[in-house]
Amino acid sequence: MSQYCDLIIENVQIASMQYNGMPYGAVPYSAVAVKDGLIFDIYNPTIKPYHAAKIVNGNNNWLLPGLIDCHTHLVFGGDRCEEFEQRLQGKSYADIAKQGGGIQSTVKATRAATKQQLLKSALKRASRLADEGVTCIEVKSGYGLDLHTEIKMLEVAQEIADHLPLTIVTTYLGAHALPLEYLTKPNEYIDFICDHVIPVIADRKLATSVDVFCESIGFNLAQCQQVFEAAKSHKLNIKAHAEQLSDSKGAKLAAKFGALSVDHIEYLAPCDVPAIKHADSVAVLLPGAFYCLNETQKPPVASLRENNIPIAIATDLNPGSSPIASLLTVMNMACVLFGLTPQEALFGVTVNAAKALGMTNKGCIDQGMDADLCLWEISHPSALSYGINQHRPIAKWIGGSMVPTNKHV
Ligand code: NIG
Ligand code: FE
Repeated sequence: MSQYCDLIIENVQIASMQYNGMPYGAVPYSAVAVKDGLIFDIYNPTIKPYHAAKIVNGNNNWLLPGLIDCHTHLVFGGDRCEEFEQRLQGKSYADIAKQGGGIQSTVKATRAATKQQLLKSALKRASRLADEGVTCIEVKSGYGLDLHTEIKMLEVAQEIADHLPLTIVTTYLGAHALPLEYLTKPNEYIDFICDHVIPVIADRKLATSVDVFCESIGFNLAQCQQVFEAAKSHKLNIKAHAEQLSDSKGAKLAAKFGALSVDHIEYLAPCDVPAIKHADSVAVLLPGAFYCLNETQKPPVASLRENNIPIAIATDLNPGSSPIASLLTVMNMACVLFGLTPQEALFGVTVNAAKALGMTNKGCIDQGMDADLCLWEISHPSALSYGINQHRPIAKWIGGSMVPTNKHV
């Protein structure tokens, strides 16, 4: 007798993103049974061991896990179009920041924005990502810096999930820039973060991780260490913007604290890579920021590979260094600019992105995983990295429930 399931997606090729010895963890001719929102089985459809209320014929298209964008700053007020013009005229990102622009100008706009305004613009950006098959997004705070606005940002981020079929993971990034009211007293700002903000964030479950910007235009090692200690004592995960503009040793420090991920890392010295391996941290590469800032220093990909460090790819969607609401585009950038293979890029937005968020229930197609799935009309999974603005999923399921996809011919 066949067993009952909620959903069967049959006649598909699966890129399971599970390491099964095949590229992309591929299973050529297959079917997936879903029960209670989870993947119940992956099986050969000729056997027909299940029946279900809903049976979908995948027409031999590719079934992939929903994509995960594990590093964004998509809640913010205003934009930085004018700074883009300045940068095109030769002013550097760091110079603009030192002159009070950059993150500071977004802080001003974000503080002034209402929750409704922030939500409206955030939903627009998040829906662009969702359209492309993204089913889970990490969103950082860090454009409020004061308690009220950081809470406002994180609440807005969490509300995105009430409006769009997305899982939202939030991160508190208080140590992003020094707010003007603390300009002459950076250590007091760090005390404020550690003593007055992190406890509230933890208590109200506004975020699951704490991030820092460890950089000469951000915070130094001692200040980041203090933030990590406070995060740890409140059982929050750790992440770091590290080695984006210089070799500041932030990644090594974050690794010492067992960081889930170290992000950017263009200037990471190969000698510091083993520390990241030791901590089992994910290296999150952000080729959109590299591209937009016209960077030339590339992350040490060869060394990451040699050390078997999981590599994730994310948009870093933000108004300054990476105004890019397209995870598929940054996968292409990761291949063209950083020399990743399309397979590495796809692992980077599925399994490894889930790991960068500390999630064990998403990112691959396997028994017991969340049934967050996308069906793609592509000849091969590498197509997602190869084409720019060419592909959208033709069907999408979140927790086993079908959600609308925009009709694209
Ligand atoms: O990841 N490096 C710091 N934070 C962001 C940029 C934020 C901004 O420019 O507004 C980043 O690149
Ligand atoms: Fe970032």
